[in-house]
Amino acid sequence: MEWGVVVATSTTRGCCPARGMRLLDRHRLHGSILALANPILRAPLEATMRALRFDRRTITYMKFDLRRAWTRWRKHGRTVTPAATRLQLGAGGRQVPGWLNCDITGSEHDVDLASPPLPFPDGHFTDIVCQHAIEHLEYDPQVLNLFQDCFRMLRPGGRVWFSCPDLGKICAAYVADRGATIDRGLMRHWPHGATPGFPVQHRITFYFHQGGEHRNLMDFEMLEWALRHAGFEGVRQGEEAEFLAEYPGFPPRKDDFESVYATGTKPGAP
Ligand SMILES: C[S@@+](CC[C@H](N)C(=O)[O-])C[C@H]1O[C@@H](n2cnc3c(N)ncnc32)[C@H](O)[C@@H]1O
Repeated sequence: MEWGVVVATSTTRGCCPARGMRLLDRHRLHGSILALANPILRAPLEATMRALRFDRRTITYMKFDLRRAWTRWRKHGRTVTPAATRLQLGAGGRQVPGWLNCDITGSEHDVDLASPPLPFPDGHFTDIVCQHAIEHLEYDPQVLNLFQDCFRMLRPGGRVWFSCPDLGKICAAYVADRGATIDRGLMRHWPHGATPGFPVQHRITFYFHQGGEHRNLMDFEMLEWALRHAGFEGVRQGEEAEFLAEYPGFPPRKDDFESVYATGTKPGAP
């Protein structure tokens, strides 16, 4: 993303303390504050929580909630009209050229997916994609609210694609072989996510919480219900290959063994 383009096309309002600075400078300033605050605050805070024998998940929740609060504070009340008309949510390290790649911090435009509305205008995007991020949100109300906000931000005829770990595949894998198939898939594609040395069932339960990162798992029925509830039409289940055929710029996740993909369209002519 060209920040200059965003500056040229964005409108800002609200009470950012660094208001008046060019967006790029403000971005750098916030980065510097974070870089300074991190070692000063984070390490002692974590050490204190560990000394108090806080659960590891509590610490994960608190750290992530602080990141979310930081992003909401920085972006408070600011509406941006990006040059890109395709939006990737929860992008992580997967920056796809030609898309506005968003995440909680350190992205092209930081947003908190759990607290819509996102700061983009109605009907701006032609496509919205979000792979493996919604399992980090509560289904009710966060996923439901996010889907409604995606509907708002899409143009008529616009498409959404969501993917996440598939509750159905994970439960079926447990029944079939206590999770051995899933564990083998992970060892191939995401070795640091597998849990060698433990009983494979541990891998199954880990999906449900991921040390405090996951809030819940969903299957296609849950995604379908939420997408229809938000107003989407033509909601159906897909596969990664179909998603990649539509958006070849995305790096493959090779994750059909564990994931569910769902797509839908906003009614109306493009
Ligand atoms: C498992 S990673 C997936 C990254 C990438 N989409 C992929 O397919 O590899 C989940 C991403 O969702 C982001 N995320 C989780 N909760 C979020 C929130 N409330 N707001 C914004 N991003 C969030 C995380 O920061 C992380 O980058």
